[in-house]
Amino acid sequence: SENIYILGIESSCDDTAASVLVNGKILSNVVSSQKIHEEYGGVVPELASRAHQQNIVPVIHQALKKANITKEQLHAIAFTKGPGLMGSLLVGTSFAKSLAYGLNIPLIDVNHMQGHILAHFIDEEGFYKPPFPFLAMTISGGHTQIVKVENYFDMTVIGETIDDAVGEAFDKSGKILGLGYPAGPEIDKRAKLGNPKAFKFSKPKVDGLNFSFSGLKTAILYFIQREVKANPNFIEENLNDICASIQYTIIGILIDKLKLASKETGIKHIAIGGGVSANSGIRQALKDGEKKFGWTTYIPKFEFTTDNGAMIAIVGYLKYLEKDFAKQDVVASARLKI
Ligand code: KG4
Ligand code: ZN
Repeated sequence: SENIYILGIESSCDDTAASVLVNGKILSNVVSSQKIHEEYGGVVPELASRAHQQNIVPVIHQALKKANITKEQLHAIAFTKGPGLMGSLLVGTSFAKSLAYGLNIPLIDVNHMQGHILAHFIDEEGFYKPPFPFLAMTISGGHTQIVKVENYFDMTVIGETIDDAVGEAFDKSGKILGLGYPAGPEIDKRAKLGNPKAFKFSKPKVDGLNFSFSGLKTAILYFIQREVKANPNFIEENLNDICASIQYTIIGILIDKLKLASKETGIKHIAIGGGVSANSGIRQALKDGEKKFGWTTYIPKFEFTTDNGAMIAIVGYLKYLEKDFAKQDVVASARLKI
C-alpha cells in the first residue's frame, strides 16, 4: 500500500519543532529550542512568538531535508491548535494553513495534550505501545494531568493541577536556590548526590486526583529564608540534600496520585510524557511501581517526551486514517481542552 507522509508542526510554547513521519515511523524530528528565555528565568510570550517566526521556515526545511523528501510528497500538514501561548500558536497555525493550501493537501488540527499522550504510538524500535485502556500522566513545565485513555480519540482528564505545573515546581524551587532556568535537570543531577530525607516538606492536601504545587514552592521559600538567616551559607553547604529532598517530595506527590488513579480505575498500564518524565527519580519510582503495585509502565524515548513535532505528526497520521481534517478557517485556541 501507499506510503503516507505527514508533516507535524509544533509551536505552542518556546520550542519550534517539525517532524516528518511515514506511516507513523520517524523520518525526521527537528527542534529549535529558544535560548532567549533563560536570561529571564521563564518563557516571555512576546519573545517566543517572534522567535517562532524566525525559526519556523528553517526548522521545516530541515525536517523535510532530513526526511529526504520534498514538500510535494506530503499527504497532510498537522499543526498544534492548542493549548498554549496564543502568539506562539498563531505562528504555527498560520504557517500550516498556508502550506496546506498551497500544496492543496489536507490540514489537520492537533490538541497538544493528545500529542503528548499519543507520542507513545510513534513506531520506534525497542519501545512498546500501551494497550487500551491505559493511564497517561503528562508532566511538564506547562502541564500536569492524569488522563484515562480508552482509545486514540476517546480520552478523559481525571486529574490535573489546580495551580502550578510540576515542572514549575522544579523551576521555581531552583530559582529560590539560585539555579539557572530551567532548573529541573540540575535538581535531578544534584538529587542523585544528596539525601532525599534530609529535609521534610509536607505534601499538599488536594482531594481526589487533582494536584497542587504552589504551596510547596512557598514552603520551600520560607524554609530557605529561615535557614539562610541562621546560616548564610546554608544553600551552598546543603544544596544536594535540598535538591534531593525537593525531588523526593514532588515524586511522592505524583506517585500518590497515580496509585489512587490506578486503584479507582482498575487500570495498571501507566504511560508518562512531558519534559519532567526525563527525571531519573520519577523513572525509578515508576519502575518500582511495577514490582510494588503490578504496574506496566511506558516511558517514551526522551526526544518524544519534551515538546516536539513528531507527537503532532503521529496524531496527524491517526486522524488522516480517519479522514478527520480541519477547515481553512480553523483557529488557534490557547485553552483548548482534551
Ligand atoms: O515538555 P517540556 O520540554 O516543555 C513544556 O513545559 O511543555 O518541559 C520542560 C520542563 C521544565 O520545567 C524542566 O525543568 C523540566 O521539564 N525538566 C525536568 C527534567 N528535565 C526537564 N524536571 C525534572 N527533572 C529533569 N531531569
Ligand atoms: Zn508540552
